Amino acid sequence: MKFFLDTANVEQIRKASELGLLDGVTTNPTLISREGREFKGLIEEICGIVSGPVNTEVVSRDAEGMISEAKELVKIAGNIVVKIPLIREGLKAVKVLSAEGIKTNVTLCFSPVQALMAAKAGAAYISPFVGRLDDISHRGMELVEQIIAIYENYGYDTEVIVASIRNPLHVLDAALMGADIATMPYGVMEHLINHPLTGIGLEKFLADWKKVG
Ligand code: G3P
Repeated sequence: MKFFLDTANVEQIRKASELGLLDGVTTNPTLISREGREFKGLIEEICGIVSGPVNTEVVSRDAEGMISEAKELVKIAGNIVVKIPLIREGLKAVKVLSAEGIKTNVTLCFSPVQALMAAKAGAAYISPFVGRLDDISHRGMELVEQIIAIYENYGYDTEVIVASIRNPLHVLDAALMGADIATMPYGVMEHLINHPLTGIGLEKFLADWKKVG
């Protein structure tokens, strides 16, 4: 299972990268805006830290604009993946870009049939937003389960990125379902490591070790 960090914060990306378990990064316009930095320089710096996919999103609403943005984005670094919104124009752009060998991550996916359309268009990745579905009392992880079943039925190689993760249970469910990737905030990645009983147990072992002499 691959772990991506869902952030544009360089400090967090460095810390996760030092752990040796970071497989990629996802950003979106909101995450970029939080950093208050010039876009291209920021993405270049992130691509210098992470060798895996670095996902950056287009902001055009029409296919032509998305395609031309995508072509500019992939010039930044060899590991750029272009995030395209799951709208009619987005699917048209994905079809063209995938034929040209540009990898796309189709984002803002909230239904399994949307995910089917993205795979048919040639998306390299699909991003179902589980937390935002949970927020409106729909079971986000059910969407992931259905997408995985559909992709298995037809042998699509589009990778499933579980996105909009809010807590470690989303990661656990994603792993149990066999999702390819979980992209998570830095805080959730930290929570995956920590358990209070591990800390308490270690303290006890070290205290007892002192008695050994
Ligand atoms: O980057 C896409 C997605 O992970 C956003 O998550 O927390 O804004 O719903 P969130």
